Amino acid sequence: MSDTITIRRPDDWHVHLRDGPMLARVARHTARQFARAIVMPNLVPPVTTVEQAGAYRERIHAAAGPGFAPLMTAYLTDRTSPEELSRGQEEGVWIAAKLYPAGATTNSESGVTDIVNIRPCLERMQQIGMVLCVHGEVTEPDVDVFDREAVFIERILEPMVRDFPALKVVLEHITTRQAADFVASAPANVAATITPQHLHLNRNALFAGGLRPHAYCLPVVKREEHRLAVRKAAVSGSPKYFLGTDSAPHAREAKESACGCAGIFNAPFALESYAAVFEEESALDLLEGFASHHGADFYGLPRNEGTVTLQRTEVVVPAEIDGLVPFHACESLSWRLAG
Ligand code: NCD
Ligand code: ZN
Repeated sequence: MSDTITIRRPDDWHVHLRDGPMLARVARHTARQFARAIVMPNLVPPVTTVEQAGAYRERIHAAAGPGFAPLMTAYLTDRTSPEELSRGQEEGVWIAAKLYPAGATTNSESGVTDIVNIRPCLERMQQIGMVLCVHGEVTEPDVDVFDREAVFIERILEPMVRDFPALKVVLEHITTRQAADFVASAPANVAATITPQHLHLNRNALFAGGLRPHAYCLPVVKREEHRLAVRKAAVSGSPKYFLGTDSAPHAREAKESACGCAGIFNAPFALESYAAVFEEESALDLLEGFASHHGADFYGLPRNEGTVTLQRTEVVVPAEIDGLVPFHACESLSWRLAG
């Protein structure tokens, strides 16, 4: 068995880097692991204009240092104008736009209240080849939290993909068999990102010996059958599935609270975490496609130059990193990213 894995430099196609002091704490972890990352726009206030995104990109550059390229997304609201999307794409600022159903997750209050409201934007995006990143959960209170992704696919995504057949869509952080199946059977312009936590955890993790706020993210982790389906998709070799960590840091106090925030900070050991899954599935040879090829190809960007190497060595993930509790805290992983 080989003691190193060398792959083309990977990218993270879904990350929350935050802003201000939190950005300063977390940016270097993503920059150490990845050449590029799609940065989610759910700041307060949200990143809705080309100017805001350009300024945010500068702040990320300053925090992450050279050698890392942040790729910016527009936060869609009921009032987003198609012109703002076209302009930002032409200026090389937007790579995609993000659909947050209003109320679905952290800082989604300004999100879209009815898909009808963004039809002109979707029309334009289809025309200009701009990718739509989707947080795929309905928000109706009568829908069980664990069913929200499956219901979103039925009620919103299937009709959308039918109505905008050439729109490039990424269903973000998939968590269910229904999502994996939907993406597999959709045309090539529909893809999905997969996080480490949805590959490692099922919903028992939320309640293992007590309430576990650090296993809480959105979409929430699901039953074992769904974890297994998402795993199968990740290691299938299909170009429709690619790496998106959804690393979403929140201060420890905000997680360990009577009303704890959703989000798992997985950036510091992201590749190591994915490598553990691919190794368990005897699919280490498919890690490079998932981490370094499929996302770039889908977005129509060049694959990165250069390589990174993982070395087989036992590493215990610290209980805390820069004041934050990381994914896998106090657990041991068997690969470490060199350098
Ligand atoms: C994300 C966050 O904290 O910004 N939280 C999460 O649980 N994933 C938002 C999101 O991606 O849903
Ligand atoms: Zn996210």
